[in-house]
Amino acid sequence: MMRTKDFDLSEVEFNRLRALVHAKTGISLSQAKRELVYGRLVRRLRALKLGTFGEYISLISDEHPGEMQEFINAITTNLTSFYRESHHFDMLAESVIPELVRANAGTRKLRIWCSACSTGEEPYTIAMALRACAPAWAGFDVRVLATDLDTNCVAHAKRGVYAADRVKDLPRATIERWFDAEPGRTAYRVRPEVASLVTFGQLNLMDAWPIRGPLDVIFCRNVVIYFDKDAQRRLFDRMADLQREGGHLFLGHSETLFKVSTRYELIGRTVYRRVGP
Ligand SMILES: C[S@@+](CC[C@H](N)C(=O)[O-])C[C@H]1O[C@@H](n2cnc3c(N)ncnc32)[C@H](O)[C@@H]1O
Repeated sequence: MMRTKDFDLSEVEFNRLRALVHAKTGISLSQAKRELVYGRLVRRLRALKLGTFGEYISLISDEHPGEMQEFINAITTNLTSFYRESHHFDMLAESVIPELVRANAGTRKLRIWCSACSTGEEPYTIAMALRACAPAWAGFDVRVLATDLDTNCVAHAKRGVYAADRVKDLPRATIERWFDAEPGRTAYRVRPEVASLVTFGQLNLMDAWPIRGPLDVIFCRNVVIYFDKDAQRRLFDRMADLQREGGHLFLGHSETLFKVSTRYELIGRTVYRRVGP
């Protein structure tokens, strides 16, 4: 039993919460995450004026739709940043986009899916990389679809406005090129020519995807680390079904398709190309 001044979270209750998280999101929480879960959910108990974790579990187990989403939002880890793992965006602009433009000369379309977009920094960086190499895709219809499970993240991403500390590590030239400063420089708005390439929506990777392929590029970075291997296998199989031979898949720095999928070949640092028919 974990004891604090206000609430107890028993092992049975923690295991029930872990099972709910896994069933709803695919996220596998180890025993070591008990304090983290406690810290994130205690705010929900206070907001709802509940006395025990048992009451909270009853509430979400009854499929209280609003609270189930709040529960999921509280559990997700949304760490992200502009130009995170920046070598991926260099590769996208310098070689992946020119290669796909040649391959898609017939359709003159490019479709990119950012499948765990968090608060939007990643898909906007994709759009910045696209704008930076715009002559390479002149005359093409290019769109970035950006989705995430967490509704608060998607709402933030749609706004496209970031506090100054979210851009403080970017070179000044990058800030000036892709953002408009809000009065007082306390926040920065992504420029319309970047934002206009991206469409946001809420989507759970564990559910059905209302997405029509083929997708030329999928970003699926720093999310499958939270899924077990079986969930990863199913996920990448479904992603491969949405891509043609030559489609690209970008994973996070600590993620791999080794022993997970044979439908892609490794072509760069956690960058894969779809193989086979
Ligand atoms: C650590 S962030 C990574 C964000 C971004 N891809 C990056 O690399 O900077 C992980 C994101 O995955 C999302 N996520 C977790 N489980 C998900 C699921 N089942 N479906 C869709 N998104 C999920 C979380 O809400 C969170 O925003």
